[in-house]
Amino acid sequence: MLQIEKVSKTYHSKGIDYPVLKEITATIHDGEFVAIMGPSGSGKTTLLNVISGFISADGGKVILDGQDILTGEENELAEIRQHKLGFVFQDFMLLNGLTIRENIFLPQIIAGKPKSQMEQNTHTLLEVFGIEEIAEKYPAEVSGGQKQRASIARALSNNPSIILADEPTGNLDSKSSTAVIEAFLNAKEKIGATIFMVTHDAFAASYADKVIALKDGIVFGELVRHGQPRDFLDELLDFTRKVNGDGYDA
Ligand SMILES: Nc1ncnc2c1ncn2[C@@H]1O[C@H](COP(=O)(O)OP(=O)(O)OP(=O)(O)O)[C@@H](O)[C@H]1O
Ligand SMILES: [Mg+2]
Repeated sequence: MLQIEKVSKTYHSKGIDYPVLKEITATIHDGEFVAIMGPSGSGKTTLLNVISGFISADGGKVILDGQDILTGEENELAEIRQHKLGFVFQDFMLLNGLTIRENIFLPQIIAGKPKSQMEQNTHTLLEVFGIEEIAEKYPAEVSGGQKQRASIARALSNNPSIILADEPTGNLDSKSSTAVIEAFLNAKEKIGATIFMVTHDAFAASYADKVIALKDGIVFGELVRHGQPRDFLDELLDFTRKVNGDGYDA
C-alpha cells in the first residue's frame, strides 16, 4: 500500500514561490490500478517525482508498505527505489544496444538475481505481455506499443510493490495505447501488480479502478469506477469538464 500524506512542494524561481503541491493526500491499495489526471501544470509529474525520490518534498510523508520512503539514509532510499518501485516512462527508456529480452534482464542482473530465476521470470513476463516473438529484437525493430509493453515488463521484473508511470500512452496512437492499458490490466490480474499512472487521457484513465483529479496542486476529487470503462469514461468526461472547462485534453 502506498500512502501519500499531506505532501507539499514549492518551486522557487527568481525570488518567487510557486506552490505546486499543497498537502496532497491519497492512498493506493495493493493490486489497485489508480490514475491521476489534471490539467497541464497541475503538479502530476511533480507528485510522481516526489514519490520516486527524484525530487525532495517540502513537507508530508510517502509511506510504502509501512515504510517512510522520503526520509532516511540516501543509500537505504536508493535500495528501496531499486527493489520496491518500478518505472515506466513516456519515451520508454529502453536501451537500444540490448534486445528486448536483455532489457528485461538488466534490472534483475543489477539486483543480483540468480540466472535461472531471472530466465524463468523473464519468460513469464514476455508471455504475460505477449511479446515473446519480439524478445530477440532490438527496440528500434519493434512498434511503439511493443516497446511500451516491454518497458512495463521491465518495470515489473524485480517484482516491485508499485509501478509508477508518467503518461505511458502519451506518445502512442490509439491502438498502441489500448495495448499498453491491456498490459497494465494483465499485470494487475495475472501478477497482482499495483499501478499508479499519470495521464491526460480520459480513455486510458477509464480503465483504472480509481481516478484522482488534481487541480492547482490540490486533490480536487476522487472517482471510483463501479461499472464498465465505457460508462466510467462518460463520468470522467463530465467530471473533467466540471473541474476545468479548458486545460483538459480529454
Ligand atoms: N524544476 C522546476 N522548477 C520550477 N518550476 C517547475 C519545475 N518543474 C515544474 N515546474 C512547474 O510546476 C508546475 C507543475 O509542473 P508538473 O510538471 O508537475 O505538471 P504536470 O501536471 O505534470 O503537467 P503536464 O500535464 O504538462 O505534464 C508547472 O507550473 C511547472 O511549470
Ligand atoms: Mg507531467
